[in-house]
Parts: sequence; C-alpha cells; structure tokens
Amino acid sequence: MRAGCHRQVPSSAVSLLRTKPVDQLTGDGDHTPLHRSLGLVPLIALSVGATLGTGIFVVLGQAAPVAGPAVAVSFVVAALAALFSALSYAELAGAVPVAGSAYSYTYATLGELVAWVCGWCLLLEYGVSVAAVAVGWSGYLNAFLDATLGVQLPAALSGEVVNLPAAVVVLLAMGVLLGGVKESAAVTTVTTALKVLVLLFFVVVAVFGFQTRNLTPFAPAGVAGITGAASLVFFSFIGFDAASTAGEEAKNPQRDLPRAIVISLAIVTVVYVLVALTAVGAAGVDVLTGSDASLAAVLRQLTDQAWPATILSAGAVVAIASVVLTVLYGQTRVLVAMSRDGLVPKVFSRVGVRRVPTANTVIVGVVVAVPAALVPLGQLAEATSIGTLVAFGLVNVGVVVLRRSRPDLPRGFRTPWVPVVPLLGLALCVLLVAGLAPVTWLAFGIWSVVGLVVYFAYGRRHSKLAPSPAQGE
Ligand code: ALA
Repeated sequence: MRAGCHRQVPSSAVSLLRTKPVDQLTGDGDHTPLHRSLGLVPLIALSVGATLGTGIFVVLGQAAPVAGPAVAVSFVVAALAALFSALSYAELAGAVPVAGSAYSYTYATLGELVAWVCGWCLLLEYGVSVAAVAVGWSGYLNAFLDATLGVQLPAALSGEVVNLPAAVVVLLAMGVLLGGVKESAAVTTVTTALKVLVLLFFVVVAVFGFQTRNLTPFAPAGVAGITGAASLVFFSFIGFDAASTAGEEAKNPQRDLPRAIVISLAIVTVVYVLVALTAVGAAGVDVLTGSDASLAAVLRQLTDQAWPATILSAGAVVAIASVVLTVLYGQTRVLVAMSRDGLVPKVFSRVGVRRVPTANTVIVGVVVAVPAALVPLGQLAEATSIGTLVAFGLVNVGVVVLRRSRPDLPRGFRTPWVPVVPLLGLALCVLLVAGLAPVTWLAFGIWSVVGLVVYFAYGRRHSKLAPSPAQGE
C-alpha cells in the first residue's frame, strides 16, 4: 500500500514505548548549536543559583507552623528525597548529557509516553516554579522598598489582585536570557555567591539571639507534622538539578554534571538546616509565620534595628531574582530537547543570533508571567513540588532500567547501591507526594490529562521517532 491510501498506525503499544537510543540523544548533543562554555564552578553556581530562593526565604515561614521547631528536621527529610534522586540524576546526566534533563533520560529508558509525561511534569518543575519564585520575590521587594524608601506598593498591585512585581521580574529575566548563556552564567555566579553570603549573615546574627526555649516543644505535631512540612519545604530543593539542563553548554558534561549536582545539593542542605535552626531558635515559630518576608521579620525582631533586615531583604531581592533567571533558563532548554524530538513545535528549538533559542525564551517568559501575576504562592509551590516529585520518581526508575538496557554505556558517575538507592529515592518521592494537599493531587491529575491530550493530538504524530508517511504509515 502506498502512503496516503494506507493510514495504518503502528501498533499503539509499540509506539508509546519507543525509546530514543542514547547514542542518538548524545549525537544530538554533539552537534548542538548551543555554545559549550560552562566549567564546574559555573555549573555549581547554576544549580545553587536555581535552588536557594523563595523556599528558604518564604516557604520556611509557611512550613514552620506545620512541624514546629522540628522544621529543621523536615529540611533533612526533604534533602534525603532530593539526595537519592540526585544520585540517580548524576548518573543519568553523565550518561546522557543533553539539554533535556529528566525528560531526555526517560526518553532513553522508559519510552516516549513516559518521557512526555516527564517533560510535562518538568513544565511544572520549571515553568510553574518560576512563577512561584517570582511571587516570593515580590514579598521581599516590598519589604525592601518599605525599609529603604518607606514606599509600599498598593496591595492591589502586589498580590491582592495582580502581582505586578512578580510578572515584571519574570520578563526581566527573559531579557537577560536573550542576551546569551555565557553572560547569563556570569550573572548567576555573582548572584549565587551573594545569596549564600546573605544567608550566612542571617545565621551569624540569629545565632546571637538563639534561645533553646524557642525549640520546645520541638515537634508538637509529631512525625506527621515533620513529613507534612517536608512536603512543603521540598520546594526549596527544586533546582539542584538545573545543571542537568545545561548538558549541551557544559565543557565537560560527563565529568562535571554529576559533580555539580551532588556538590550543589550538599551546599544548599547545609545552608537550609543552619538557617531553619537559627531562625526558629532566635525568634520562635510565630514570628516566622507572620510575614511574607519571614527571615527579615526575624532579624527585625531580634536586633530591634532596621539595617540587618534591610541588608537581608536586599540580598533576597537579588537572590530570588537569580532563581527566576536560572529556572527560566532550565525551562527553555527542556523545551529545546522536546522540540528537537518533534514532541512540541519546531519554533522551540530554533536558535537565534546569539545562539539562544529566542522565540522559545520569549514565549516561555510571557506565558510564565501570567500565573506569576495571578496565582498565590502556596498553590504554585505545591504544583511545582508534585510535578518535580513525579519527575524525580521517573528518574529513579530510569537509572535502574538503563543499567539493564545499556550496561556498556560510559558513565561519568555511577549511582551507588543500585537498585536500593534509586528505589529509596522513589519511596521518598511517594511519601512526599502523599504529604501534599488533596487539591494538589487533583490539579495534578487534570494537568496530566491535558498533557496526554496534547501528546495524542500532536506529539505522537510529530515525533521524530514516528515512522514517516513515506515509509508507509
Ligand atoms: N528551590 C527554589 C526556591 O526555593 C525553587 O526558590
């Protein structure tokens, strides 16, 4: 039968499970039009830069009443989920060093449909989290403007009706990304160093006000409180895998991506536990809970002076803006990979004058600015967390599968104790998903259904792995 008269679709099960060969994925990376300019330090800066932000500066205040002072332990639980998944990420990032992160890894291991689901989840991890982070930024911008100039934006413009600063910061980040990745990486390295310093400044000031009585009772809501808060603060770890979206812009991805991921996670975990412990120890849970700019509120109450809180707010404004920048970057690169595979339209992988995916960056920036302006932080953060946890779960499974399907593949890093570590990672992801609000599960269910509709209406037919009509489809 000739093309056109015979519309026989390949056996559905086979086409849904088709995997993209690793060598082909890596080949895409070798011929990337993107620019290989990033060494280990900028990659660590990229990951830490994408991670330290609204989670520790704002979501800590929302999680503290759930766990009580034991919120510091919640950070450890969330860190463990992130760590086990990070070890899986590290192996796959070294073995499949292309731009698409977990999406590409699942394409190589679990097949096209799961890869699509994963890419669709990454839209939550990256796209929606940019919006969430931007909303957190807006709270500190207000605190900073108030402390320095005595200016407060009208409530209607700073979250009550629309969140104007949140939308503006997303569009500014879009502008920086259009300037080129090398320049963006330089900005990221400087801002990341600055935010680590600002948080250490917080720790040093807070240590002086530390009172052990603020830590009792330590876990008023017991284990359930600790794991519930862990689900919330998991948001603060999202982003440590951002280096894995830079697989095609790293100079030596096989060696540096795994290292960057593990080192970044270690750095942020230490910082978070120190900040959470000293914040609760210095001011108690109530002070943290009562403000959008919770760490600034702690310093204000502790020192009785304005300047430490002002320094912290200024640092947070820069710090959180850099998260917006790096996470937005990650989102555009995941879409480059999905577009190259034909699952989303070509326009997302078209590279413009400065070797930047220009149209992709503009579309993502504008689309993300809308929820940033209109949706409250809590809902955005939970949506981000559930999407990320599902993507991480898939990465954990992917490691086990790739060990079986391609044991020969050179790996810059090997996850220890396979399959125990990835399966523990998977179990912790499930535990944290269980701790999120049922309304978040529902929203995620709807999101997934929409994703599947898009896949069957567009991606499946346009996939590069679909047999071409000339071949008789
Ligand atoms: N981890 C990022 C933050 O906390 C999303 O802002």
